[in-house]
Formats: sequence, C-alpha cells, structure tokens
Amino acid sequence: MFRPARSLLVALNRIKECRAVQTSCQNLAEITEYQSVITDEYKRGPAEGRALYLDAQATTQLDPRVLDKMMPYFTSFYGNPHSRTHMYGWETETAVELARNQVANLIGADTKEIIFTSGATECNNIAVKGVARFYKGKKNHIVTTQTEHKCVLDSCRALQAEGFKVTYLPVKPNGLIDLNELEAAIKPETSLVSVMMVNNEIGVKQPIAEIGAICRKRKVFFHTDAAQAVGKVPIDVNAMNIDLMSISGHKIYGPKGIGALYVRRRPRVRVEALQSGGGQERGMRSGTVPAPLAVGLGAACELAQSEMEYDHKYITMLSNHLIKKIMSNLPHVIRNGDAVYWYPGCVNLSFAYVEGESLLMALKDVALSSGSACTSASLEPSYVLRAIGASEDLAHSSIRQVTFVVQYQIMYTYCSGVYFIRLYRFGIGRFTTIEEVDFTAENTIRHVKRLREMSPLWEMVEEGIDLQTIKWTQH
Ligand SMILES: Cc1ncc(COP(=O)(O)O)c(C=O)c1O
Repeated sequence: MFRPARSLLVALNRIKECRAVQTSCQNLAEITEYQSVITDEYKRGPAEGRALYLDAQATTQLDPRVLDKMMPYFTSFYGNPHSRTHMYGWETETAVELARNQVANLIGADTKEIIFTSGATECNNIAVKGVARFYKGKKNHIVTTQTEHKCVLDSCRALQAEGFKVTYLPVKPNGLIDLNELEAAIKPETSLVSVMMVNNEIGVKQPIAEIGAICRKRKVFFHTDAAQAVGKVPIDVNAMNIDLMSISGHKIYGPKGIGALYVRRRPRVRVEALQSGGGQERGMRSGTVPAPLAVGLGAACELAQSEMEYDHKYITMLSNHLIKKIMSNLPHVIRNGDAVYWYPGCVNLSFAYVEGESLLMALKDVALSSGSACTSASLEPSYVLRAIGASEDLAHSSIRQVTFVVQYQIMYTYCSGVYFIRLYRFGIGRFTTIEEVDFTAENTIRHVKRLREMSPLWEMVEEGIDLQTIKWTQH
C-alpha cells in the first residue's frame, strides 16, 4: 500500500510548489480546485468491494503526479497549441513541446522525432501502413511476427489486401524470434521489419538491438511496438538502431488517448500519412494535439525515467514472490515465455487440469486477464499461446484426448475452449502492493486445488496414471 501513499504525498507536495508558481497568472480558486480533485480522488481510492487490480498490461492507473501536471491544461491553459497568433496558443505550445522533449529524453531521441498520436494502435497503423505505402514504388514486402499486437497484424492484413507481401515469422517455444530466420526473411524488396519489444501477453522481450543491427546492415527500416516496454526497460533508439517506435500513454501511468510515434530523421524515414488535415506533427498526423494529454504523457515519461530503476526492482520483487508462492504450492503450473528475456511485470501462467475459463471466473476478486484486453472477450485460445506451441502441444496431448472422453463418455457439455489450456496474465505495476500479490497467490492456489478436485483428469493423475500412455476410444 505504500506506493500509492508515497505517490499521493509527492503529488500533494508538487501541487503546493505549482500553486506558488502559478498564482501569479491564474485564478486561485481554480488552482485550489485542482488540489481538491486530486486529493479526494486518490484518498478515497477504489470503492469497497471492487476487485483488486492485476492487469497492468491492459492499462495502468494514472499516476496522481501526472494528473497534477495535466489539470491546468484542461481549465486555465486551454489554447490550441497550433494557434500562432496569441499567448493562449504559445503557452500551450510550450507545454506540448516540453512534453515532446520529455518523451524524446526517455528513449534517447531528438525532440523533432516525436509525433503525438492517439495511442499505440494509431502509431502502429502509421508505422506499418505508412512506411509500406510510401516506399511501395520500389519495395512491396514487410516482415513481422506471429505474436504482434492485433493492430500490427491487422495492418499487415490490410496491406496484403492492397497487394503487399507479408512474412509472419514464427516464434520459438520461449516466445522469441530466431534471428537467422529473420535475416533469411529479409529480401531486396523488403521495406520494413516490425517486431514488438515486449509482448503484451507473455512479457517476452525480443532481442531488439540485434534485430536493429540486422535491419541496419540490410538497409531495411525497423519498427518496434514498444507499448509494453517504454518506461519499463531502458531504450536507446540510436544504440538499438530503431527507426520507428510506438508508445502508449496509458501503459506507463499516463492518460488514455495519447501516444507517440518515434520516427527517425537521419537516415530519414518517410511515411504516408493516414489522415488528411492541417498537417500537424510534421505532416504525419493531422489533427489538434490534445495538449492536456500530451502534457500527461510527457510527465509520465519523465517520471518513468527517474523511477525506472526503482520500479523495476520493486516489480521484480513482487513478480518473483508471486511466481514462487504459486509454483511452490501447486504442481503442473506452466510459466509461458522465456524466463530470462522477459519483463517481470507480466507473469503468464497456465494451470494444467483446470478447464476453460473456470479459474478466471473463480478469481472474481482479482481483475486479471486471460489473453490481451482486445481479444479476451473471445473464447478462442490465445494466438500468442498457439504461436509458442503451448496450446498446440495440449491439443495433441492426452489432455485433449481425455477431454474427448469427458465430453462424449461422461456427457459433460463444454464449449470448444476446453480443448485448450488458458493462459492467465498477472500484470504487476508501480501501484501493486505485496498484500495484493499475496491475496492473488493464495486465492489462485485455493481455486486451482478446488477445481482440480472436480476434474476427472486430475483424479487420474493423482492415481498415478500416465495420461500419455492411454489409448482412448472416441465416440
Ligand atoms: C503491445 C501493444 N501494442 C499496442 C497496443 C494498443 O495501445 P493503445 O491502447 O494505446 O492503442 C497495446 C495495448 O493493449 C499493446 O499492449
């Protein structure tokens, strides 16, 4: 619990400092109002009876210190940052440019290389479609991976419909791509390689610097979707030879509805804009920059930079605690994703002999996810899990065969999701507490044990029957 309390104190101190500076140019009543909004909201905390939050990959809580920085730009400094003829525009533009600088500093970029967008989805669309379409006269091929976020995969599919060729690289069982396969996939007509930095489902961290080096050597642009990585792991776009990079505000304790695309200036990367309009953001993203959100993203980046080391240690401690507690109390738990090249705030586990969605439903006091936020509504097995081979293994293993028996002989009725083991993503963040991790681990252990007690498969395992050796008859 100490982290939110600490943030609140810091936020309140910052407000006092801000008040001292801002009273000369603002209405005092308004400033007092900012304070009351922040203190009330954060002191009250979530209402009683709400599930605790362990879904940091879906989104993160807005840091109160970020909200503190944003508030004046909703009320007092409301000018359009693109208005060039009066002080309302100038003061907002100054704030937006400061934010641009804060984003650039976090990733070792030049301020001019940062383009504000509505989020990582838009960044990925601009990067993938924008580069492919701009260079289509000479090149018509792009390379990506099977485990990208849906917005990258769907952008690639849209390009295929326009006649582009796309190579979707498979990943190894640990979730990482094979660098030799990547190199072999790059052809003279390849314009772009797009590989995400940290996977949103299993947390694996791709070897970005090595991928960047290959792309630079082969004179191909390299885009990385770093929505789950920025502010959490150190990034230097120059050292890593990244040409385009997608950033999302709400994954780093900033506001929703804002993101930033890094676009390299030397060697220059050109993109075809997706939308027409006033030509803002170097012509790559027309539309008024939402100044309060940009200020929030900048503040979130500055905080992430100064607190990255602390956050990483704290989150690693919680993550290790969760994994150790669950795995030392439960057999047959699978950790999905590489155990070394991995961001510890994304713990992905599968529990054998626990069917379908039952555990997710049992853990109703914990907000966590089975798959990514955009696909979790579906009963489809995770395509990421399928890509690392986990569900495929199970589909061909005794578990599937036993499931057939359960379904046809014992006459249980299940949906198709039962054929696949589900993954459970425990997302740990800056505001997660050790008490929350303990609660989650204890409840997971309790419910997995209970659900296994109800499982005919588990009964057989307990009796020492090797399920692999059984020849099942299907009806
Ligand atoms: C890896 C990754 N890319 C892109 C996105 C989309 O981000 P946004 O919500 O900012 O559009 C997400 C969010 O779920 C993500 O995890």
